Amino acid sequence: MRIDIITIFPEVILPVLQAGILKRAQARDILTVNVHNLRDFTTDRHQSVDDYPYGGGAGMILKPEPLFAAIRALHPASTARVVYLTPQGTPFNQSFAEAFSLESHLILICGRYKGIDERVRTKLVTDEISIGDYVLSGGEIPALVLVDAIGRVLPHALGNYESAQEDSFSQDLLDCPHYTRPAEFEGMKVPDILLSGHHKKITDWQHEQSLRRTAERRPDLLKNIELSTEDIAYLKNNE
Ligand code: ADE
Repeated sequence: MRIDIITIFPEVILPVLQAGILKRAQARDILTVNVHNLRDFTTDRHQSVDDYPYGGGAGMILKPEPLFAAIRALHPASTARVVYLTPQGTPFNQSFAEAFSLESHLILICGRYKGIDERVRTKLVTDEISIGDYVLSGGEIPALVLVDAIGRVLPHALGNYESAQEDSFSQDLLDCPHYTRPAEFEGMKVPDILLSGHHKKITDWQHEQSLRRTAERRPDLLKNIELSTEDIAYLKNNE
């Protein structure tokens, strides 16, 4: 998979690509991430990327010419999904991460200031994505959120001891509690069931814990999933 990121702050993006799973996915050629400086696509002497908004108001707008030039240079055949990161976009979630991970080419546009010229959105952008209901100073951190979430669900990106299938949200439930050694720490014991070696009982317990956590913390998520009769009974008994 190839991801191109267009930004005026490559220095914000680059270090994050050089650690952990993202580094490994790139080293294994599962993922290629190219970071492009928008200023490299300007043609004027001052390399200006932004300008004042028509109609007035505070803040600057990213100009159309460099963005058109950059996007067209990166996918002349127009086959990539062109994603603009903006608080006005569709909220990002795990299903988006999984759907995007099936694409072969993504172009991520990081906005700054007040945003980008509307003509870029209408003509070239295929998806507008928000990472949450708050306003960041630019799209760089949101772009990294996407690259990280997508990169780690690419086949073979995770090592043997990690599994995207067992994540919070992969079954639309929050994750269960986890413990490691020691079996007792400052008087707090690991639940006996996890030490029992009984695989079926352990997975049942983990599933119940996930259900309980989801019901307590994110009851909204339960509306989207099909609960078994056992799940419903468990939730009823633990109200
Ligand atoms: N740019 C600024 N804030 C953002 C957000 N919450 N999501 C995506 N892009 C953004």
